[in-house]
Order: sequence, then C-alpha cells, then structure tokens
Amino acid sequence: MRNKLIIGNWKMHGSVAENAALIEQLTQGVPLLDANTEIGVCPCAIHIPQISELLAGHDRIHIGAQNVNEHTSGAFTGEISAGMLREFPVKYVLLGHSERRTLFGETDEMIAAKFVAVANEQMTPVLCIGESLQQREQNKTESVLLSQLESVLKVTGKESFSKAVIAYEPIWAIGTGKTATPEQAQAVHQVLRHWLATHLGEVSQRMQILYGGSVKPDNAKTLFSQNDIDGGLIGGASLNAEAFLGICEAAQ
Ligand code: PGA
Repeated sequence: MRNKLIIGNWKMHGSVAENAALIEQLTQGVPLLDANTEIGVCPCAIHIPQISELLAGHDRIHIGAQNVNEHTSGAFTGEISAGMLREFPVKYVLLGHSERRTLFGETDEMIAAKFVAVANEQMTPVLCIGESLQQREQNKTESVLLSQLESVLKVTGKESFSKAVIAYEPIWAIGTGKTATPEQAQAVHQVLRHWLATHLGEVSQRMQILYGGSVKPDNAKTLFSQNDIDGGLIGGASLNAEAFLGICEAAQ
C-alpha cells in the first residue's frame, strides 16, 4: 500500500501575511485528516524560513522547494543550493516543472544534475514530467514521458531514482482548468509504473506517482481513486486552504 501524497506548489504567489493566514488554516485542518495522507507545501524560496518557523511543532506538513541549483556552492549569483534548502529543513524539491522547462530553458541534463544535488542532500526529488497538447495529439505522450524519465535515470542510477516521487503533469492541463480524465491519467500512470517496474524492479510498487494539472476538490476523488495515482501536485487550488484541504480529504 502506498500512502497518498498531496503537494501544494504555490509558484510565485504569497506574502508574509498571506502565508501566515494560509498556514494557520492548514495547521488546523490537517490534523483532522487520516495520518497516512502525506502533505507538502512549496512556497517561494524567500518564504521558506517563515514557513519553517510557522510549522515548527507541526510534523504533518512538510516543506518543499520549487527549484534548486545543481552546484553545491560558488559564484552563481541569485541561486540556492540543495544544502541551503536542507537546513530549514526542506523535504521535497520540485524538479523539471513544465514552467521551469519552458520559461527558464531547463533541459533534461540540467534536471538530472539538480536531481543528483537533491538526492545527495537526502531530500526527495519530485520529478515532474509532462507532454504538450501537440505531442499528445501526435501520439507522442508515451515517448516524451519515458524519455524525460530515462534522461534522469541514466545520470542518477537506480538507487537514488527509486527514492524520488514522480509527478505526471500534462502541460495542457496546468492552470487551464482542463483536467485529464481519470481514465486518461490512469492510462499514463500505468505506463509509468510499468516503466519503473522494468527499470527498477520491485521498488516501483512503493514509488508514489502524482497527477498534476487543474486538480480541484470536485475532481480529486475520482483521480485519486485510480490504481496508479498516488496523490496530486496542486497549483492554483493549493493557495486556498479550504480547496487544498478538500483535495487532501479526497485522498483519504
Ligand atoms: P494547477 O497547477 O493545479 O494550477 O493546474 C499544477 C502545477 O503546475 O503543478
């Protein structure tokens, strides 16, 4: 049995006051949820120390980062290393989100290097993969996703890859209000699980594969009840406590 995992990706949203209000509501709601539901929130890097303080003593909600630099230290103006994140402490690091790939030019090679940096600090990489609408229409979904996975696995090796969380996020569903149907999402997750089983063996049964892309409280339950969907990576709806808690509840 895999635990369900719900991670909120706050993207470039939030302020000190807004974060405090959101965390206050989450810390009230989360203890009412099933203890097997794992929860993470990914604020902007500058807000991680604030969230870390607000969550002191609340062991149910973990902190994630939205990005990391692959180097351990050095002359990389504006960047943040995995070691710096680890100190707060950060548990999850999102890697390869489609916004990082498309808006900031992150390549599979860069994502693989970041993955290694995160794994070296004993944090959990959340490797995001996804196809564009055009790729889906050209029947390239499977080849796109598997090549995104392969390019990371060949750099990291099996052992650290098997400790990652995979997040399938069809690009056409992110922030668009268009969700993959539960059947569409399950079909992809099944392919991903099969690929993981082929390359990693038994451990693939324990790996969490999240779905992301316009998950809301009203569509979360049917998505999460699919065999190979182990929770969600939530953008827009994670900024609203009621909606995020509703999604967490749907995971139980
Ligand atoms: P969304 O974003 O839930 O707003 O579609 C998901 C994501 O980008 O992780």
